[in-house]
Amino acid sequence: HGTSKINNSGHLEIGGVDVVDLAEKFGTPLYIVDEALVRQRAREYVQAFNETGLKFQVAYASKAFSVKAMCVLAEQENLSLDVVSDGELYTAIQAGFPAERIHFHGNNKTVEEINMALEVGIGCFVVDNFIELHMLNDLAAKKDKVVNVLLRITPGVEAHTHDYISTGQQDSKFGFDLGNGSAREAVIQANELPQINLLGVHSHIGSQIFEVEGFRMAVEKVTQFAVAVRDEFGILFTVINVGGGFGIRYTEEDAPLPISQYVHAIADAIKTNFTAADYAWPEIWVEPGRSMVGDAGTTLYTVGTSKNIPNVRKYLAVDGGMTDNPRPALYQSKYEAILANRANEEATEVVSIAGKCCESGDMLIWDLNLPEANSGDLLAVFCTGAYNYAMASNYNRIRRPAVVFVKDGQADLVVERESLDDIVCNDVIPARLQKSSL
Ligand code: LLP
Repeated sequence: HGTSKINNSGHLEIGGVDVVDLAEKFGTPLYIVDEALVRQRAREYVQAFNETGLKFQVAYASKAFSVKAMCVLAEQENLSLDVVSDGELYTAIQAGFPAERIHFHGNNKTVEEINMALEVGIGCFVVDNFIELHMLNDLAAKKDKVVNVLLRITPGVEAHTHDYISTGQQDSKFGFDLGNGSAREAVIQANELPQINLLGVHSHIGSQIFEVEGFRMAVEKVTQFAVAVRDEFGILFTVINVGGGFGIRYTEEDAPLPISQYVHAIADAIKTNFTAADYAWPEIWVEPGRSMVGDAGTTLYTVGTSKNIPNVRKYLAVDGGMTDNPRPALYQSKYEAILANRANEEATEVVSIAGKCCESGDMLIWDLNLPEANSGDLLAVFCTGAYNYAMASNYNRIRRPAVVFVKDGQADLVVERESLDDIVCNDVIPARLQKSSL
């Protein structure tokens, strides 16, 4: 998919670049991002929303993959940006991303983070709780600023990918509950606070969702709430944000919908519900992360050792693992992979791909069909663009890999591989521990 194909040498090629050359030039493990595919995904969202006739913002949820080059790309594709920490905000600002198109999320924003966001003048705070609401009002007052706010509500719809649980009061650390009146109370307070300009509400029902039903249910609940607030207080919402969560295909077990179908279903639900309530259509905002970058990413590893336990299993170890992709260990996530330098060859054996960390749980893929691999072969694991680099760690003091963007036969480094000096650069040996003082 995307620009990936097998070339005449039998090698995997992405963005017109032979990944064997990439391994030589940049080393492994290596994250490879198909830039054209990221842009295509962004355009699918924007185009589908343009068709709906609604006002909209597509905010890329940068938690999925936050690096400067990605922020530049999001800006070029006219996306907004969702950040959840000072680190993500700083990355965006350093990349020159326009602050007024940044939305700030998070259930425990610090004073420092809020002040930083106020100083750069971000477009919207998604306020999660009462403490934050008042803190934001006070800090904005000190800077003599009025800030745009969405209130994050817990709509009582929870997506478990295939089914949706509709509960009166959802057990979640996020947001104001619709069911117990706290969302209503938050609207009243936000409306009274002088530095707060209440735009509307936000809800997020889950991630890796394959159907539209949950979004429809959430829009319905949000509309009911908007109507109740209008009728009781005369407060109107001009923005409804339905969050992210649009699914992607990691393996053949996954059957996500095309992006345009999610968009149209949400837009239809907004139009139908708000029209029925004689309510002006609000702007609709979404926050896709995974579906923007997930399937554009591929991780390239070099095969090292193997261990065969006759009649039990053959382990094949690669030069990365849970440090660059913790998702299998954390969520039992499944991935597809091929031998990138022998991509034409038939699979002849079943192997399980192990990482190099010192723990048994460090497995990337169980029971993968591959040609018989030798050390030095390259393994390409697909669909690693979202929540991989973003969740990478230095466990075992393993260095984070480099990231390259590939497009039209060109490969550009967007994150350098960490060096051994990077690993120790924040370490300090207190004077009293130093040899000279012993
Ligand atoms: N908006 C909010 C408020 C969110 O909490 C999230 C994801 C998104 C948008 C983006 O959701 P997406 O479109 O990417 O599904 N680390 C996990 C995923 C955590 C998602 C957290 N929130 C994973 O690797 O699967």
